Amino acid sequence: MKPIKVGLLGIGTVGSGTFNVLKRNQEEITRRAGRSIQITMVADLNTERAKELTNGECEVVNDASLIVNHPDIDIVIELIGGYGIAKDLVMKAIANGKHVVTANKALLATHGNEIFKAAQEKGVMVAFEAAVAGGIPIIKSLREGLTANRIQWLAGIINGTTNFILSEMRDKGLDFDVVLKEAQRLGYAEADPTFDIEGVDAAHKATIMSAIAFGIPVQFDKAYVEGITKLQATDIQYAEQLGYRIKLLGIAKRTPKGIELRVHPTLIPAKRLIANVEGAMNAVLVHGDAVGATLYYGKGAGSEPTASAVIADLVDITRLATADPEHRVPHLAFQPDAMNDTPILPM
Ligand code: NDP
Ligand code: HSE
Repeated sequence: MKPIKVGLLGIGTVGSGTFNVLKRNQEEITRRAGRSIQITMVADLNTERAKELTNGECEVVNDASLIVNHPDIDIVIELIGGYGIAKDLVMKAIANGKHVVTANKALLATHGNEIFKAAQEKGVMVAFEAAVAGGIPIIKSLREGLTANRIQWLAGIINGTTNFILSEMRDKGLDFDVVLKEAQRLGYAEADPTFDIEGVDAAHKATIMSAIAFGIPVQFDKAYVEGITKLQATDIQYAEQLGYRIKLLGIAKRTPKGIELRVHPTLIPAKRLIANVEGAMNAVLVHGDAVGATLYYGKGAGSEPTASAVIADLVDITRLATADPEHRVPHLAFQPDAMNDTPILPM
């Protein structure tokens, strides 16, 4: 079978990880996908750096629209970030009949309904495992592993940067700003780190999970969002003395009146598993009516952990794209047209 051809938009932290892991594990990945997956084109603003990273193994262009309009490209990976140019490129790729993989939670939480509607109409797949909790396969777990369940609630540490900041402040007594800089250096933080520290990134992720868990459209605008910027070192110390840890949690919960969707710092008894999730690690608890409580844990940010999720989507799409479209299992986790009979509650 001929290789599936992939165009990569943005070869920064996650893009370079994706390129490297795909190359390193090419043999296993090909076996699992049933077909070779080849990144044949890369777009980045910094073409010199992109050429160095890709070592002449694919075509490097400055203009990403050359990829989304290229007739030979089957799958577009969007790893630019933000909702400006990234949205235009994703919509264009869909319009051109290409499948899309993205790690861009900001884009999906704000424009996911429009994107998924367009994908549905065009019969292409949009996959986004990397958009929530980095390397943890939480999207697949919600969509497939727990598919028999009526999900009652989920709660998680879903922002690595803030968990890293809280852990380092507590363990090493370091200042907020110093740890934030380190999180940026390590590639955990968003291009605009206020998204991390103000809870916006966690709210994007909670919004996406709530859409899958409860079968509702994405409704980021209805989420209650509070970050960690008002916390002081003394809050963390007092919590510790009382036997608690402070964690920034993203929560989505079914209630008789509707769905609660919220992000805020939360006191958790220190002996709970989730209270002991440290550094940039993430953990998500999901409670289903049949299975009870389940816990997912792993690296929530960083180059290769996130690449792991991007490539899982590439493999998934490669397998599904090979099937007859009539019999394809829908990969659209969102239901953009769903009647919103389970409203998000105002907080
Ligand atoms: P980076 O900033 O490291 O990478 C983005 C890359 O895109 C840069 O190389 C940038 O070039 C390039 N770029 C920007 N604009 C364009 C454009 N118009 N055309 C082509 N290339 C462009 O970001 P990350 O890799 O960290 O993040 C990418 C996405 O993944 C974001 O949506 C982020 O939220 C998400 N994500 C990130 C995780 C992480 O741990 N970092 C984890 C999970 C998701 P230049 O540097 O020259 O501007
Ligand atoms: N900025 C994000 C975080 C990256 O710190 O969790 C992973 O989505």
